[in-house]
Amino acid sequence: MSRLSVFVHSWIPDELRARLESRFDVDSHDVFADGLLESEPLKERVGGSAGVLLLGAYVGAEIFEASAGTLRVVANIAVGVDNIDVDAATRNGVLVTNTPGVLDAPVADMSMALVLAVGRRLAEGDRYVRAGRFRTFPFSLLWSADIGGETLGIIGLGRIGKRVASRAQSFGMKVCYHNRNRLPDDEAAALGVEWRSLSDLLAEARYVVLLCPLTPETHHLIGAPELARMRSDAFLINVARGPVVHEQALVEALRKEEIAGAALDVYEFEPKVEPALWEMNNVVLTPHIASATRTTRLAMIDLAARNLEAALTGGDVPTPVNPEVLRRSS
Ligand code: DGY
Repeated sequence: MSRLSVFVHSWIPDELRARLESRFDVDSHDVFADGLLESEPLKERVGGSAGVLLLGAYVGAEIFEASAGTLRVVANIAVGVDNIDVDAATRNGVLVTNTPGVLDAPVADMSMALVLAVGRRLAEGDRYVRAGRFRTFPFSLLWSADIGGETLGIIGLGRIGKRVASRAQSFGMKVCYHNRNRLPDDEAAALGVEWRSLSDLLAEARYVVLLCPLTPETHHLIGAPELARMRSDAFLINVARGPVVHEQALVEALRKEEIAGAALDVYEFEPKVEPALWEMNNVVLTPHIASATRTTRLAMIDLAARNLEAALTGGDVPTPVNPEVLRRSS
C-alpha cells in the first residue's frame, strides 16, 4: 500500500520528524529558517498531501479547493485558527485541528507579565539602566501605576482569561470581563469576576486585556471610539490577535494621550510593527511570544502532530475544530 504524504510547514524536533517519516512521506518547509510560505507556493507544496502540519501561514479556500479529495487534515500549531478558512475546509471535507489547553498557563502568565511591565514601566527602567543613566538616588524616577487595588478588564474570558483573572486577583486586583455570552452567575461568582458591557468595561478598567479570538465580529473590536471611551490613565494589553485592535487608531490614541500606554504581543500586520510604536516609551512590544515557553511550544507541536497522525490513521483526534467532518466520514 502506498504511503500517505504529509507536508510540514514548521520547524519540528528530530524525534518527531523520525516518527512522522516512519509512517508517512514527509516534505517540509522550515518556517523558522525560511519564513512563511505565501498562498501560491503553499498551494503547490500542499498539493498531493493528505495532511499538513501548519504553523503561521494562511490557508485559504483556494488551497482547500485545489487539494479537494486528497487533503484530509490541516493540523494547526496554535489554538487560534484565524489563519485557516475553516468553512472552506469543512466544505471540502478537510479536518482542521488546533492546540487548546497546553498553552493556557504560559499565555496567562504573559498577560500578567505585560500588565506588570507596562504598568510598572519595566522596559523603560531596563532601557534607563542600559543607557548608563542610573547615577543618583532615584526617588522621583519612573513613577508608575499601581497594580493591586486597580481593576483589570478581560475581553474574552475563556480558559486563558479565567487563569488571568485568578493571577490578577492574587495581585489584589478587581476583575471584570466582557464576553458575548455571560458566564452563569454561580460560575462568575466562584471566579470572583463581574460581567460588564464592552462600553462599561472600557470606561471602568485601568488595565484592559484582550484575549478574544479573531473572528469577523472581533476584527477592529477596539478602534477609535473604544479607545476614546477608555480612561486616560488606562493601559491596553493585547495578547489575542493584532487585528482585534485598529493599530493606527491606537497610535493616535497614544499620541493624543487618550490612554496611558499599551503592551502588545501581537500586531495588526504581523510581523510588521507600526514604526510609530517603536518611538513610544509607554508602549511595551514583544514578538508574539505569549505561549513561547520551551515546554509549551514543544507540547503544541506534539499535540498538533498527534492530531495529524490520528486523523490519517483512524485514531481518536484529540482536538478537532470542525468535528462535523469526522462525523460525516465515519
Ligand atoms: C496561538 O496558539 O494561537 C498563539 O497565538 C500562538 O501562536
